[in-house]
Amino acid sequence: MTAGRGAFAGLTRGNMQHALCRRLRSGGGTRPELALLEDRGQRAVVKDYRASGRLLRSLVGPWLIRREARIYRTLAGAPGVPRLISVLDRHALVVEHVEGRNCAEYADGELPPEFFLRLQRVVEGIHARGVVHCDIKNRSNILVADGGRPYIVDFASAFTRAGGFGPLRRFAFERFRTDDLRAVVKAKLLVGQLWNEPDAHFAFRRGPAERVIRAVRNAARRAFKLIAGR
Ligand SMILES: Nc1ncnc2c1ncn2[C@@H]1O[C@H](COP(=O)(O)OP(=O)(O)OP(=O)(O)O)[C@@H](O)[C@H]1O
Ligand SMILES: [Mg+2]
Repeated sequence: MTAGRGAFAGLTRGNMQHALCRRLRSGGGTRPELALLEDRGQRAVVKDYRASGRLLRSLVGPWLIRREARIYRTLAGAPGVPRLISVLDRHALVVEHVEGRNCAEYADGELPPEFFLRLQRVVEGIHARGVVHCDIKNRSNILVADGGRPYIVDFASAFTRAGGFGPLRRFAFERFRTDDLRAVVKAKLLVGQLWNEPDAHFAFRRGPAERVIRAVRNAARRAFKLIAGR
């Protein structure tokens, strides 16, 4: 890393070892490796598909990295979204580290009601910039920073309103926007233990079309994991 410039300036795969604090999770199959880096008092997380399964390493991982980096750039400066520090190479990106724990590590009832209100504002802010996350129901993607501020990470499945296919895309955007908000309300009801009927109705209501879409999507996900995990 270049001396005299900001933290992580000049970071490359070659010199990354100097900044490595510890491996958070090893990679393999469809999963990227995650590691914690530190430079000049600042911390960052590197998400790296190089040690993942063959398909992820060669094709899908680079595509996911490009998409996720593009979304982080679109959301630069949005409250509750960590800053993209750099794209290391086609396999890996580096994001500002959020000190704290993820929501899945909390016991039910442990997070205060204000947290869920702040989380909703963060998600609405993301939507206002034309991005839907599409995987907020996975509570490990919701981080609770020290001091209780919510952050959202993992924009690999996110989707933007801008782009081709006009009305179809806008329809999908609205659908996924509702899904994101439902995921927030579900977290509030279950993790927050703040059960109330109107929210429960909004979060758990399923029309017949939705049940079919979900069944197809879940089957496609299972098939992908089976193929890509090799
Ligand atoms: N910027 C960050 N700051 C702090 N922790 C982070 C950050 N990014 C990721 N993490 C931690 O690493 C975990 C996995 O990261 P991420 O969700 O991006 O990868 P993933 O492969 O999609 O994982 P999963 O399949 O578990 O969702 C997160 O749940 C979170 O605990
Ligand atoms: Mg994730």
